[in-house]
Amino acid sequence: MPKPILIDTDPGVDDALALILALRSPELSVKAITTVAGNVGVRKCTRNALKILRLMDLPQVPAVAQGASKPLCRRLFTAPEVHGEDGLGGIRWLSPLNRAKVPEHAADVIIRCCRTSAGRLTIVAVGPLTNLALAWKKDPAALRKAGRFITMGGAFRVPGNTGPVAEFNYFVDPEAAHTFLHSGLPITVVPLDVTQQVVLMRKELEYRARRRANLVGKAILDFTRSYMLRHKMTQGFNGGYLHDPLAVAAAIDDSIIETRRTHVDVETTGRFTRGMTVADFRMKARSVDPAVAFKIDRDRFFKLFHERIWL
Ligand code: RIB
Ligand code: CA
Repeated sequence: MPKPILIDTDPGVDDALALILALRSPELSVKAITTVAGNVGVRKCTRNALKILRLMDLPQVPAVAQGASKPLCRRLFTAPEVHGEDGLGGIRWLSPLNRAKVPEHAADVIIRCCRTSAGRLTIVAVGPLTNLALAWKKDPAALRKAGRFITMGGAFRVPGNTGPVAEFNYFVDPEAAHTFLHSGLPITVVPLDVTQQVVLMRKELEYRARRRANLVGKAILDFTRSYMLRHKMTQGFNGGYLHDPLAVAAAIDDSIIETRRTHVDVETTGRFTRGMTVADFRMKARSVDPAVAFKIDRDRFFKLFHERIWL
């Protein structure tokens, strides 16, 4: 029986790869996709999620619900220099599958899916946690009915990717991240500590995409081009981190990650440390604290990723 999941996302190039991975994994049944402002504005995120659904040409499509257009209490901070002005590497030939969009707000869809999930729903959040925090504040009892939450975010024993100490998702909305990580919900955090261990190199992508020579491969080649060039400019390699696909992979096969229960605070007032995840490893963690992934089985991840993406 496939595991029901909801993906909360700010597509975003690596988000798009995560959506393709989830939609092509028989272990998962994507019940809904909710969008949140992050990499680009939320309307563009929604448009990009709908473009991926058009690309996948599925017999049944999940509902797409648009969410927060800005963080809980800050101005929006975006990353067009990484994901393109449109958020999907400037791909022009993909049009959105507009019929998949529903009028409900993302937070209400999250609440409804949790309430009716009978403890089976996994929510994979791969953008800022604004929608999750809004849903938690609005109806905590509903969210307690979900099975599990996985969030891509944070940086514990590695530098940040947004300023010196913060990871982008938690930098954009640190208040949402702090609130959500202190909810006591069953949360797994997939931080930069492990997502920066999974890099897809351009050469391998080109080899695999050309071997499959289908529309999905062509789209992936197109929408990852500028994302990978950005990494070449800033990180020195022509490739891209698979941050969000790793979070989805953890929903598919939990053995890909090894976690440690950790009390996590998110800095919300620091002048230089906004969004930093602060963990005091001397403290004995409690059962209500999140499980943070500090180790992964890279081979297992890439085997699963490539098996699905190039179907
Ligand atoms: O820090 C990486 C995260 O920020 C990923 O989710 C990426 O899509 C961006 O949203
Ligand atoms: Ca993302």
